[in-house]
Amino acid sequence: MAVLEIRKYPEEVLKKKASPVKEIDEAVRRLVDDMVETMYAAPGIGLAAPQVGVSKRIVVIDISSKEEEFPLIVLANPRIIEAEGLVDSEEGCLSVPQYTSVVKRAERVIVKGLDIKGTPVEIEGTGLLARVLQHEIDHLDGVLFVDRLSTIKKEFFKKRYLKAVKAGY
Ligand code: NI
Repeated sequence: MAVLEIRKYPEEVLKKKASPVKEIDEAVRRLVDDMVETMYAAPGIGLAAPQVGVSKRIVVIDISSKEEEFPLIVLANPRIIEAEGLVDSEEGCLSVPQYTSVVKRAERVIVKGLDIKGTPVEIEGTGLLARVLQHEIDHLDGVLFVDRLSTIKKEFFKKRYLKAVKAGY
């Protein structure tokens, strides 16, 4: 296992649509192990493969540091099949360090995908889990939470963020 480098905005790999996983093979299992280790080391509560430079549809989520009853979730080719309600909440991302903003997301989602054994699974999420699922699945489509901000907020973010990057925060 290894802690991988987390790619940061505005790197290209974060803007690409990731490819579906064809088979859960040894390489995928190794990538998942490394993603889990990278997520815990950060520390973060979710990580998508493009964030470690791999344009594949894989996410790992562990919100147990915030809400204890949830186990580690590994999903390949996740897709939202049901979404309802809308709720505003503060969000951040390991690929956009030191910036958070309020983002509107569905309150409850049902997601289908494959687990680490390649078995089809369905996960229902509300609250924080619903938010993290949507945030991580967005990454697979090349969408960051800052892309969901209003035009004015996005412009403000870009100016402030790129200035901070230049200054080597
Ligand atoms: Ni993120």
